[in-house]
Amino acid sequence: MPDPILPLQADQIGKTYRQGATTIHALRHVSLTVEQGEFVAVMGASGSGKSTLLHAIAGLIDVDAGRVVIAGQDLSLLTDRALTKFRRSRLGIVFQSHNLLPSLSAEDNIRLPAESTENLDQEIDDLLDRLRLSARRNHKPAALSGGEQQRVAIARALICNPAILLADEPTGSLDSVTGAEVCRHLRELVDDQQRSIVMVTHEPHVAMWADRVVVLKDGNNLAEFVTDGRRDPQSLAKEYHQTLEGEVVR
Ligand SMILES: Nc1ncnc2c1ncn2[C@@H]1O[C@H](COP(=O)(O)OP(=O)(O)OP(=O)(O)O)[C@@H](O)[C@H]1O
Ligand SMILES: [Mg+2]
Repeated sequence: MPDPILPLQADQIGKTYRQGATTIHALRHVSLTVEQGEFVAVMGASGSGKSTLLHAIAGLIDVDAGRVVIAGQDLSLLTDRALTKFRRSRLGIVFQSHNLLPSLSAEDNIRLPAESTENLDQEIDDLLDRLRLSARRNHKPAALSGGEQQRVAIARALICNPAILLADEPTGSLDSVTGAEVCRHLRELVDDQQRSIVMVTHEPHVAMWADRVVVLKDGNNLAEFVTDGRRDPQSLAKEYHQTLEGEVVR
């Protein structure tokens, strides 16, 4: 049987920034593979390369080394134009600040990236329902709470049925209760719909919702561990800090 097509295969990604005489190795040799229906958290200290990795996977920056393959498509083989099209149709991206259009309602923000198809209204209804936003569909972003805005951003990222959802600190601007609610929604998307997610976070109580935690240090893969569905922020924090301190290296 042929191997199933993986949502994401990033192999040996390297990215260097030059600023005057200084060279910053944002990513040295980072690899990350995600299976269908897998939720991966990427952790690491500030400056360890987490956002750079996510941007490289999203094709938002050119990499100097390695390759990113999304759902079987090697991003380096696409022209700029084809990459933009591919990104719109196959990738869902959520950032810390949600970048919703203030003049559009929740529903129209979600509709914005979608191609008009026969089933679109039904798909929007389903997403609004799934993310408990049905009662808020006509509200503009300014009339939504931070958590609701972030859920709209997630729905918008999902409307094109992406191969993978990429999220950079999606709960970073939310209080812990609202953040947990957003995480629970992400978890449900994986459990109920076999979505595949890569989420960058600093916080153990956010990472605990993932299946697997990948730790970056200085632009390298330092280690990874599975969460075993424990949802236990204390033990995850311990494992993460031990990893960073070099007590446990796997
Ligand atoms: N456009 C850029 N130009 C120059 N250096 C950059 C650029 N983007 C990132 N860097 C550098 O690359 C390194 C990795 O940055 P990155 O943003 O990936 O870190 P991060 O792990 O996401 O950090 P944080 O947790 O603070 O968001 C840092 O040293 C950063 O200063
Ligand atoms: Mg970052």
